Amino acid sequence: MKKSIKLGLVGYGTVGQGVAKILRKNKSYIEHKIGASVEIAGVCDLRKPRLDSGYCCADYKQLIADPEIDIIVELIGGYEPARSLILEALNAGKNVITANKAVLAKYWDEIFKTASKNQRLVYFEASVGGGIPVVQALNEGLAANQIQKISGILNGTTNYILTEMTKQKIDFKSALAKAQKAGFAEANPTFDIEGIDTAHKLAILCSLAWSRWVKLDDISISGISKVTAEDINFAKDEFGYVMKLLGSAKLSKQGLEVSVEPCLISGSHPFANVEQEYNAVLIRGDAVGDVMFYGKGAGQLPAASAVVSDIIDLAKQVAVDTAGKLPYVKYGFSKRIKIVPQEQSYGCFYLRFSAIDKPGVLSTVSGILSRCGVSIASVYQKEPLSGSRRGASIVMLTHRIKYGGLLRALRQIDALPVIKSKTVKFRIKD
Ligand code: HSE
Repeated sequence: MKKSIKLGLVGYGTVGQGVAKILRKNKSYIEHKIGASVEIAGVCDLRKPRLDSGYCCADYKQLIADPEIDIIVELIGGYEPARSLILEALNAGKNVITANKAVLAKYWDEIFKTASKNQRLVYFEASVGGGIPVVQALNEGLAANQIQKISGILNGTTNYILTEMTKQKIDFKSALAKAQKAGFAEANPTFDIEGIDTAHKLAILCSLAWSRWVKLDDISISGISKVTAEDINFAKDEFGYVMKLLGSAKLSKQGLEVSVEPCLISGSHPFANVEQEYNAVLIRGDAVGDVMFYGKGAGQLPAASAVVSDIIDLAKQVAVDTAGKLPYVKYGFSKRIKIVPQEQSYGCFYLRFSAIDKPGVLSTVSGILSRCGVSIASVYQKEPLSGSRRGASIVMLTHRIKYGGLLRALRQIDALPVIKSKTVKFRIKD
């Protein structure tokens, strides 16, 4: 049995320093669990940080070439050079831990095929849900189940923004500035606010759940940058709905529906009180039923907690030389599940039309909706908060309808001269 496991950390920013902190603070406890010591042997970071142990270098290849190092921990994020370094590390016989959802979502097959070819492991607990141990739960704890549904608040930044817009009634821009100041937004906040970060995480969960690579292109993605405090608060005050950016995947006879979009949920939904940077994931298995996970989805120590749990798991296997004898991720399961185009999905919707307030507008709009198979459950007209006295906001809630029909109707409605701006729509989720 190996008595000492050596780590090479690529990236020593917020999460890397968190990993060092936890390894230092809980050293004896962690080493007792592994049955061997764990040590950071080297760090690759251009900022030349001060380290408790090990050397610092500017080129990750030096860590990969170091025969002492057993596990490479990739904490730089982004697509490249993260992809190259993961593949090079695996080809050099190292095991890998990564917190990088982007690289996994985009290069899933390549990474796990390379891991399998080299009989090495890639662990990635921190890539989804920060400190929530959902990856291992889905991959191992729920392994007996055929997964029917996954739904989650998977991005702390957008959840923080939506919470602030709801509670403080501030606009999107001010809420984003607060989220950035709080420190959990990505370096490029576009990934957070346009739903791409959520899609990366959802792609990982789906690929694990259904043993097929669910690509970003399979997911219809819309973010929250166009969401207004007016809609959030109208939906809340009038109907008791709460706005959340949800990543959702549902398996039906037609195939797999996968989407990321801002949705309205009822105030009694289990996600309604998931606020600020917290994440939540609900998984439905055919045997277990619904299982829900909740916790901090972003931040130094929650993310580092997940990385260190991977270190412990992997180090135990390295110590007894079993790491990679069996793959962690099974890819290429033969049953190909079809992806259902979003136009073919069904759902209930909140629609807000900005129309000129004159006779006949409502009947024109409802006539188009009816011809496109969109059945209206209720209608509200409210005075605009600002702007022309002749304008009106008409809010409609629909029955369960086909999304493709709604899109057809909205194309026609938005082209009417009486419609002043693009119709706002949000899916209502139960
Ligand atoms: N930017 C991400 C978030 C960090 O806000 O959730 C964790 O992946």
